[in-house]
Amino acid sequence: MENHFNQAPTQPQTAQINSLTMTRPDDLHLHLRDGEMLAAVLPHSARQFGRALVMPNLNPPVTTTAQALAYRRRILDALLDSADFEPLMALYLTDNTPADEIRRAHESGVVHAIKLYPAGATTHSDAGVTDLKHCAKTLEVMQELGLPLLVHGEVTDPSIDLFDREKVFIDQVLVPVRRAFPALKIVFEHITTQEAADYVRDAEAAPGTLGATITAHHLLYNRNALFQKGLRPHYYCLPVLKRERHRMALVKVATSGNPRFFLGTDSAPHPKGLKEHACGCAGCYTALHALELYAQAFDRVGALAQLEGFASFHGAAFYGLARNSGTVTLRRESWQLPLELPAGEHTIVPLGAGETIAWRLA
Ligand code: NCD
Ligand code: ZN
Repeated sequence: MENHFNQAPTQPQTAQINSLTMTRPDDLHLHLRDGEMLAAVLPHSARQFGRALVMPNLNPPVTTTAQALAYRRRILDALLDSADFEPLMALYLTDNTPADEIRRAHESGVVHAIKLYPAGATTHSDAGVTDLKHCAKTLEVMQELGLPLLVHGEVTDPSIDLFDREKVFIDQVLVPVRRAFPALKIVFEHITTQEAADYVRDAEAAPGTLGATITAHHLLYNRNALFQKGLRPHYYCLPVLKRERHRMALVKVATSGNPRFFLGTDSAPHPKGLKEHACGCAGCYTALHALELYAQAFDRVGALAQLEGFASFHGAAFYGLARNSGTVTLRRESWQLPLELPAGEHTIVPLGAGETIAWRLA
């Protein structure tokens, strides 16, 4: 396959930057799983990021503060002693999440968000919300407490074309929710379309109430990557990769310096055998080389200077967190990505396996 990582920058840079030191970044959308998988993937994220917002779509999902505290404990126990990494927890919203649970979550100090998965939208979303009208009281309390709602922004109506599900979500769900709860903090997660990028950029919203995460893979690839000389399951994630014009719109807002846009890898490990399968799981594994991938995307358009804001400042500000202390350094240095990584009795295939990548985290 064509090596996307080695494309030359499309805009001339005044002087080539070969090293970039920045404030330690945060990953504001991450899947860590549990058990052996957690143990295998956690060191990758802990090496790259100071904190990560850990998605609650375990099986069964993390729906209560007590479960979130127990999951956090398992994450901390799996951390190598030397790692300086803080998991930020999220609860999985259901049709019957009680308003009291939101208060408990807020009081815990470790739950930083509530995640909306429309029922059936993605991996482990069967317990998700069937209709947000069931959640009105819950959303009211979140608005009152300033606890953000994270949305997987896709409708699940099977009559809507898969590639249009994010665009339709804006009109059918996001706009009405924001109208009903104008002060509710909302993050439009892993946006993939020009429509989502434009909406988040242009919507009227008080500072700190509307944000969006963007993955590295949606900045680097369009949907052709899924079909390059054959079916490529490791490029399949949800929301699915879109056309080139959408990728370009995402790059534009990510590199614009606009604080509404911030880093969330959506790194989502699945065993190799469940990706290379007749009904393959959705999710790209990028925790191993996340910052290198983002550096690649920003470098291509001559925007490395904007990476620190996107990766280390905007997300922390949205969540009301202090910036991390300490720094990380990326160097321009080619290295080859492994073909697979051990994960207990399974293996995981990282995004771009076997290809060379031009940046390396020191
Ligand atoms: C995620 C997963 O595997 O948990 N998959 C994905 O394709 N992004 C779920 C999600 O965030 O949609
Ligand atoms: Zn995700």
